[in-house]
Amino acid sequence: MIRKPTSKFVLFILTFVLVTSYFTGIMASESVPSDNDEEDLEGIEELLAVDEEVERQPDGESVKSSEAEVLTKAQRIVLELNSDNTKRVVDGNEFVLVLGYAPWCPRSAELMPQFAEAATSLKELGSPLLMAKLDAERYPKAASLIGIKGFPTLILFVNGTSQVYTGGFTAEEIVTWGRKKTGVPVIRISSVTEAEKFLKKYHTFVIGFFQKYEGPEYEEFVDAAKSDSELQFVEVSNDEVAKVVFPDVQTTGLFLGIVKSEPERYTTYDGAFQRDKILEFLENNKFPLVTKLTEINSVRVYSSPVKLQVFVFAEEDGFKNLLECLQDVAKTFKSKIMFIYVDIKDENLAKPFLTLFGLEESEDPVVAAFDNRASKKFLLESKPTRNNIQEFCTGLLHGTLLPFFKSLPIPDNREASIKTIVGKTFGDAVLSSPKNVLLEVYTPWCINCEATSKHVEKLAKHFKDLDSLVFARIDASANEHPKLLVDDYPTLLLYQANDKANPIKLSTKSSLKELAASINKHLKAQDQVAKDEL
Ligand SMILES: *[C@@H]1O[C@H](CO)[C@@H](O)[C@H](O)[C@H]1NC(C)=O
Repeated sequence: MIRKPTSKFVLFILTFVLVTSYFTGIMASESVPSDNDEEDLEGIEELLAVDEEVERQPDGESVKSSEAEVLTKAQRIVLELNSDNTKRVVDGNEFVLVLGYAPWCPRSAELMPQFAEAATSLKELGSPLLMAKLDAERYPKAASLIGIKGFPTLILFVNGTSQVYTGGFTAEEIVTWGRKKTGVPVIRISSVTEAEKFLKKYHTFVIGFFQKYEGPEYEEFVDAAKSDSELQFVEVSNDEVAKVVFPDVQTTGLFLGIVKSEPERYTTYDGAFQRDKILEFLENNKFPLVTKLTEINSVRVYSSPVKLQVFVFAEEDGFKNLLECLQDVAKTFKSKIMFIYVDIKDENLAKPFLTLFGLEESEDPVVAAFDNRASKKFLLESKPTRNNIQEFCTGLLHGTLLPFFKSLPIPDNREASIKTIVGKTFGDAVLSSPKNVLLEVYTPWCINCEATSKHVEKLAKHFKDLDSLVFARIDASANEHPKLLVDDYPTLLLYQANDKANPIKLSTKSSLKELAASINKHLKAQDQVAKDEL
């Protein structure tokens, strides 16, 4: 019997898949640290698969209207591909950047205006890069012909040969990446006017100051510019011009710095002019102090080399009040802890995380953290003040925070024939109890749980005079314990009084009679052992 999935069920599946892919993605990128771009893409495909699942659910009304605006904007400058022209356009141009999208997909809707804006900028800059888009749902054949498998996908074609897109997803980042791939890895700024014009367009960039654009250090700089896929590099050789883009620039020798649009605006590099050293510096400094999580940047955030991450969930206004203090704290944990803000109203992004803490309904700001190396989660349970956040982060960094396990409030079980166990009571009531405990592990959404619950109720009645056996149940969707390692529901576990570390799994497919017989058998065997020991 298959029940129609309820919305709660769908939400859970989303949570589960998202969180699983989140942790797998992270583990994968840890084992192969040198291959980040590919890991990113794997992550994207996983998350896209999640999107496809979710977006087949017909509840995308709000998405549709904003998407219409986006489309009109993009149409002005971006070439539209279809089943007739795709192959011709891709093969007949030196550089084409294709966006494969689907009209119903929120991630596509978020990317399209950025893509259109990038197309406009590139055109103004006289870039040879042709920007094109393909509705991959309407033209599936054309899409598969050029290798578009998910939405949204960006692919670069150079004389008809495809290249994986490894850039960022804001208009600025698309332009930067597009220029790097079409022979302009570094922008040279020669006058104050040019510098001022540049600053209007670019908010995050890397500046290199050189007396002369030559020599091994300069070559390392250009190499770094080519290898990096997100940041615009600029080169300057005039003191005055350099001061416009980086006020504290040191023009006595070589100089490299990164500029960002936030309080921590200018960061000076003090390492050697070697490609890999420069790239490492940028990797640690390119994220803003606090990154806002979006559909588009989520994969990049999850796969960041910084594995300690503090998440702040709040409404826009609540977050504004917290931002300054967060930025201050973030400065002290730079390149050790990443700070991420999630709009608590954004269900797709916030809910899967809040569910992990049983705080789906929260309207107050929530500060949580993840140690993605150890797959542990933490919750700031005191008020999110500057001091408390600072202390929380210190604990996270030094591994002294207690991990968070979900638990409902402790229930009153005095009259119950089947005891309700929660995360907080699992240790005392199951593991440390002197009795045998038959524990039913269920979730509200699991399909076969109801049948098993009925069996357990009957068994409890049947064994009610057996004082050494306690019947209990735990809702695993709302309760966790480090020693309760069940991921299949329903599960029946018999914790024998003399061996709590090794519960016996009883088959939930068994009949009532078989279950009763099995319980009897195990308890008898246990008595036998006890007798033998005497
Ligand atoms: C693309 O093909 C043209 C014509 O064969 C060639 O001149 C050009 O160098 C090629 N571009 C790249 C980036 O390989």
